[in-house]
Amino acid sequence: MMIKMDSRNLLYEGKAKSVFQGESPNEVIIGFRDDMTAGDGARKETMGQKGYINSIICAKIFETLEDAGVKTQLIELCEPCVMKAKKLDMIPIEVIVRNIATGSIIRKFPFEDKAPFNPPLIQMDFKDDQFHDPMLNDAIAIALGIATKEDLDKLRELALEVNEVMTKMFKDIGIILVDFKIEFGKDSEGNIILGDEISPDSCRLWDAETLDILDKELFRQGKDDEVINAYEEVFNRLLSEEDRVKWNL
Ligand code: CDP
Repeated sequence: MMIKMDSRNLLYEGKAKSVFQGESPNEVIIGFRDDMTAGDGARKETMGQKGYINSIICAKIFETLEDAGVKTQLIELCEPCVMKAKKLDMIPIEVIVRNIATGSIIRKFPFEDKAPFNPPLIQMDFKDDQFHDPMLNDAIAIALGIATKEDLDKLRELALEVNEVMTKMFKDIGIILVDFKIEFGKDSEGNIILGDEISPDSCRLWDAETLDILDKELFRQGKDDEVINAYEEVFNRLLSEEDRVKWNL
């Protein structure tokens, strides 16, 4: 197939992905890049193979979610780094699901480090680098006009479903899903659909036995040389022989 990932078709360029107009009006092509940023983009590095690894991990997770009945924007992974997806009108909310307390939540509130959340804690942040992604509540989101009460309830319901499927998926390969961030958008019919990506860039993943970190936290800690190995470890555990054949890996 013809993949038109040239600048004339560029719709949006994010910190790690570029979004291009697809062949039909309701489709986009998402290009996963090797760029990695931290601190609202303050630090930026190129990590060889990251786009390749993340695009495949993301496709695998989205497919598993679809099989469990959660709608995602994935149409197909055309080739590594290149995902054909439904065009969505993105809601500027980062929905964060936490199973274990770590990161910003223990810096902002007196939760004990590594304490489990039962039920999982859902947090919503306003996606806006200029304002440093401040934490939202329903009233603020509604007043900003970015979501209705019904939308917010739907986001929470979907986030918990995603958490349930992903927690099991990772548990089966000896990984603890500590927390993650997801984003949603509306399709042309107004349905709320999971968009953006799910990958070690947007999740905290710990080895269940050693508690070794297998995600972007390594980059935040400045351990740049360990990042790709950790992502590769997740990739290798997640992919079956069948997946490798399907994607010609
Ligand atoms: O500790 P930090 O400020 O990085 O973030 P956090 O609020 O503790 O992050 C919770 C989860 O959401 C982690 O899995 C992050 O990787 C993810 N996240 C993200 O993917 N993008 C953001 N802009 C913020 C958080």
